[in-house]
Amino acid sequence: MKTSMKTILITGAAGGIGSHLRRELAGKYRLRLSDRRTIKPLATGESFVRAELTKLGELLRAARGVDAVLHLGGYSVEGRWEDIHPANLVGCYNAFEAARLCGVKRFLFASSNHAVGFYRRDQVIDHRVPLRPDSRYGVAKAFGEALGSLYADKYGMQVFCMRIGNVNPAPLDKRRLSIWMSPRDMAQLVTIGIEHPDIRFEVVYGVSGNTRSWYDNANALRLGYRPQDDSEAFAAEVLARERPGNPRAETYQGGSFVHAESIPNPSAPVRARRRATTKGRTGKKAKREAKK
Ligand SMILES: NC(=O)c1ccc[n+]([C@@H]2O[C@H](COP(=O)([O-])OP(=O)(O)OC[C@H]3O[C@@H](n4cnc5c(N)ncnc54)[C@H](O)[C@@H]3O)[C@@H](O)[C@H]2O)c1
Repeated sequence: MKTSMKTILITGAAGGIGSHLRRELAGKYRLRLSDRRTIKPLATGESFVRAELTKLGELLRAARGVDAVLHLGGYSVEGRWEDIHPANLVGCYNAFEAARLCGVKRFLFASSNHAVGFYRRDQVIDHRVPLRPDSRYGVAKAFGEALGSLYADKYGMQVFCMRIGNVNPAPLDKRRLSIWMSPRDMAQLVTIGIEHPDIRFEVVYGVSGNTRSWYDNANALRLGYRPQDDSEAFAAEVLARERPGNPRAETYQGGSFVHAESIPNPSAPVRARRRATTKGRTGKKAKREAKK
């Protein structure tokens, strides 16, 4: 029997993770890409619907008729409350609400390690630990997880919250050896979030099978996640170029987010990035601090 291909709405699809997932999920799903930035060119099986997250009506247009929403859109680093609030609280609420109003049952939320970034690096944490956000950004992710819990309990939505570490083809520094996620492992976890029949409200860690992991990712493993990658393969090279950093940042899992007031947003125009940095720095050092 031929089953029809599912259609997945990806918000924030113009961003870094969206770009990896477009490649990884090509041919597996019909991808309805959404962002406030234009995405082109589109590949086979992709369509684009522009939507500003703060406008529910635009998200309703984007979410109509899809099988699942993968909500990646938002302000993706620590920033001013004036930037975090509309994108990550209002925007996240609108994304859940659009899914509910459009009858979409499955919702995948890109949460973050920064929702629990104030756990120390000498601790291993699982999906049941109390939230310990390390930043306004982390608080917004905690809010998103709480919304997910509400929509699961109240409306029967199936919600899959991924506390993502850092998605990149290779880990960039010592901290990220513990939280790295390869694009193909990200795609595997997302596929579980879309396909697994028994999801109600789940929290999992979006990390590869890293030897130096700070996470007990038992819930993801229970749902069938079998990461293919381990950051250890990059460890020697990464550690050889590592320089000592801020001691407070190095104590906690969240790294520089535990003391940062603002970090340049990688997807913002250069002028906005300069405004967002506390000291107006946009050079190499400031960019290195954008440690998601
Ligand atoms: N990249 C990582 O390793 C990582 C780690 C943890 C969590 N996350 C989360 O995963 C998601 C994707 O991360 P990313 O690295 O691809 O981020 P990104 O900054 O590269 O992309 C975010 C996208 O959201 C869009 N966006 C922002 N505000 C919007 C608005 N008001 N309306 C419409 N679109 C808007 C931006 O245009 C951008 O394309 C984010 O929610 C981020 O917080 C990412």
